[in-house]
Amino acid sequence: MNLRFLDALHCRNRGRPPLWLMRQAGRYLPEYQLLRAAHSFETLCHTPELIAETTCTPFKRFSFDAAILFSDILLITEAIDKVFHFHEGKGPVLNAPLRSARDVEALSSWDLKPLECVIEGIKLVLPRLNVPLIGFCGGPFTVASYLIEGGSSRDFHKTTQWIKQDPESFHSLLQLLTTMHIAYLQMQVQAGVAAIQIFDSWANVLPESQFLEFAFSYLQQIIQAIHPQVPVILFCRHAPLLAKMHATIQASCLSLDATCHLADMRLKLGPHIALQGNLDPKLFATHNAETKKRTQEMLQSMKNDQGYICNLGHGILPETPLEAVENLIEAVHTI
Ligand code: CP3
Repeated sequence: MNLRFLDALHCRNRGRPPLWLMRQAGRYLPEYQLLRAAHSFETLCHTPELIAETTCTPFKRFSFDAAILFSDILLITEAIDKVFHFHEGKGPVLNAPLRSARDVEALSSWDLKPLECVIEGIKLVLPRLNVPLIGFCGGPFTVASYLIEGGSSRDFHKTTQWIKQDPESFHSLLQLLTTMHIAYLQMQVQAGVAAIQIFDSWANVLPESQFLEFAFSYLQQIIQAIHPQVPVILFCRHAPLLAKMHATIQASCLSLDATCHLADMRLKLGPHIALQGNLDPKLFATHNAETKKRTQEMLQSMKNDQGYICNLGHGILPETPLEAVENLIEAVHTI
């Protein structure tokens, strides 16, 4: 077993930094495209054997130091009977989005049975890996915003209006999702994932006071419940705010987006929290001289940092050439 990634999560990695990529089993890979030509995204996410196979696809080409479970942060909504469909080019779409406090009250019961296929997928994939497996979930705020918007949104208008008009029912929704997420992550941990990443991808649309009230307090609940069992990585694109409140963050690792400088964040956060990131996915996809220069700068600035995990600042884009990944692996291995 390659333990570089777990060593870095515990800030005790003495060799080169570990590397994995968010969305590493995604559309930039020809092997993934082949699987998608044969099966819908929904089928891939609900069939244990296909979950295992898709999770392994990047390892046919690349020697990443961790695997991420193939799934989606929106699957959990099936536990409250809300089923997203993933339309080509349009992203996830929900038929009946939440519209009012009454819709939230109607959600009082939940059942994680529809997610047992994910747990079966974890059990199938573990013996096929020689790197740690990362389980994951969405941040309650991000998942709530998809339930309210009914899909991807540019301005999160409905969500921010809801917060303004009825913060109490928004809190009820967030608490319900938090409780469900803790139970779901505990299932993943019991099945054998070695670490958890929480993707609160859209919490950065909230200004500071709302971020603390509607996102961070729920993230803390999840981290407190899971952190004693396995390391928790928090992905949240609000770096300056996270730096400001670093003393209260209990995550093992912050996954940082491309807007911040990793070495600056290390100075602000101190040596006891791992840092993951943060090449700009757009720059990475252009794969030019600037990409190489920025990669070297990033790796040099974190050289010998025992808690550094190399990654992008967000998911790898579908148009990224395979050579970009090959070059990054080469750069990390020769630093
Ligand atoms: O990282 C991995 O390789 C593991 C699998 C994974 C997927 N989604 C697979 C996926 C993970 C960790 C996610 C997380 C996820 N899903 C997030 C948080 C991370 C982020 O990107 O901000 C969010 C917001 C979602 C919701 C979601 N799923 C959207 C908005 C979309 C459509 C847009 C897009 O990027 O394609 C999806 C679909 C999705 N999830 C695909 C994959 C591989 C593409 C499906 C396809 O067309 O084949």
